[in-house]
Amino acid sequence: MPRRRPALEPAVRGQNPIAWSAPGDLYNSRFMTSRLIPVEAFDLVVFGATGDLARRKLLPALYHHELNGQLPASVRIIGAARKPMTTDEFRRAARSAIETHVPASELRADTLERLLGHLRYVPVDVATNAGWSELRALLDAAPNATRVFYLATSPQLFGTVCERIQAFELDVEAARVVVEKPIGKSLASARLANDAIARVFPEDRVYRIDHYLGKETVQNLLALRFANALFEPLWNSDHVDHVQITVAEAIGIEERGGYYDGAGALRDMVQNHLLQLLCLVAMEPPALMDADAVRDEKLKVLKVLRPIASSNVGELSVRGQYQGYLADLGAAMSDTETFVAIKAEVLTWRWAGVPFYLRTGKCLPRRMSEIVISFRPVPHNIFGAAAGTIVPNRLVLRLQPDEGVKLWLMIKDPGPGGMRLQHVPLDMSFAEAFGVRNPDAYERLLLDVVRGNQTLFMRRDEVEAAWMWIDPLIAAWQATRQPALPYAPGSWGPSAAQELIERDGRHWHEEA
Ligand SMILES: NC(=O)c1ccc[n+]([C@@H]2O[C@H](COP(=O)([O-])OP(=O)(O)OC[C@H]3O[C@@H](n4cnc5c(N)ncnc54)[C@H](OP(=O)(O)O)[C@@H]3O)[C@@H](O)[C@H]2O)c1
Repeated sequence: MPRRRPALEPAVRGQNPIAWSAPGDLYNSRFMTSRLIPVEAFDLVVFGATGDLARRKLLPALYHHELNGQLPASVRIIGAARKPMTTDEFRRAARSAIETHVPASELRADTLERLLGHLRYVPVDVATNAGWSELRALLDAAPNATRVFYLATSPQLFGTVCERIQAFELDVEAARVVVEKPIGKSLASARLANDAIARVFPEDRVYRIDHYLGKETVQNLLALRFANALFEPLWNSDHVDHVQITVAEAIGIEERGGYYDGAGALRDMVQNHLLQLLCLVAMEPPALMDADAVRDEKLKVLKVLRPIASSNVGELSVRGQYQGYLADLGAAMSDTETFVAIKAEVLTWRWAGVPFYLRTGKCLPRRMSEIVISFRPVPHNIFGAAAGTIVPNRLVLRLQPDEGVKLWLMIKDPGPGGMRLQHVPLDMSFAEAFGVRNPDAYERLLLDVVRGNQTLFMRRDEVEAAWMWIDPLIAAWQATRQPALPYAPGSWGPSAAQELIERDGRHWHEEA
């Protein structure tokens, strides 16, 4: 069955997009179905298996692997949390989570039954010794299987979980640990957390998840940069005018106020997701697509970010708080930022003078994450005023929603009527173009852990280097008492965020 060609995108701001032109059979399934590589049998222990992350992300990801036929029959997924429950009760809870979070069109009764058959449950309190012997007895049944410990619990528990994994001798040779953000609240606390993990697991068995790195578009950024001859020669300050990275959420703090108020947008989003994306854009080509080669290059970027201190923090950053935050939090006062915009710079030969504008926030107009590479204008306009304005090229990598890539180009307005120019996107929405479902980031990352591939996970030194840049920024905010400026929910943050970029003669990329 030939795949459908990508549909033309609805007109954007009155402009007609053009579809990627491709030979007739390019969209044929022969080329485009993803190849599924089965994995060896493994035991996955999810500490915090009754929590939000497990319900919304991990169980649906495992369901999709079962649907794809990637899980061997002997796989065991062992849920662990304090709640007393039998395996049958856990299976019922897992069924309900999967039915809630997997679209009905993707649900198959036989697949769901097979997945539920892999599940076990052991009540374990990671802060005490309760339940650990039972967990050990279960794991002892498969001493040679790859063993993954997924810490889907509060980060305060990471140290104690690792200690008990060791004390109960569960840290066999093939054991690895997955930890979720946030890793610390500062360099000092990140080091403490990393030390506690390192006392049990060597770095090559530690998987620090930043789920943004598991997104298709992020991996496509690597493919675009390093599997095409076209972009890399332009990927420098001679040709790139600036870069924008936006991670916008439409929702407020919802039920997460307790955690969020102690963190804020800078720690919650910039320290990890936005800096990781910046690194992938700015890094030098690694010699190999190998975990350490890639992470070495990212680390070099983090180490050469222009420091932000009291002297320049007002000029280079904006803090904001959405109106209604205090009511959502149920507090009379809080200075926590729910929005941040930063003008960052990578002090290297390649990027000298190229600003990287970062912004993220809650209660923004829509959920949207994207990276925009904005190229320099053409040096000379041969067409004259009647042809219209020549808008500089932009490469837009959309992470969510609708993962895809758009390359904004100038073309001639089709048809008669002389030479008039139009700015249009070459649009490739992955899901449409390839006729395949975009896997959730957790799907990719979970099996990378089983395969022992750390490329898309943060190494300890990266996490700590990111804090080395963030800590002085926070200290500068505190020293200068930089306020969190109020902004209306549904707006793009305080007007100061527009000014941050507009005083450089640039604008945030905001497609309708
Ligand atoms: N939710 C997300 O989308 C998301 C996104 C990014 C990162 N994260 C990170 O992922 C982790 C989990 O987040 P979450 O949202 O799933 O949290 P959550 O909904 O609060 O769930 C926490 C889980 O930990 C278990 N737990 C708590 N204390 C325990 C103990 N002493 N022993 C054993 N289990 C214990 C809880 O079950 P019992 O109460 O039954 O023990 C529950 O299953 C956190 O580190 C969070 O920062 C979450």
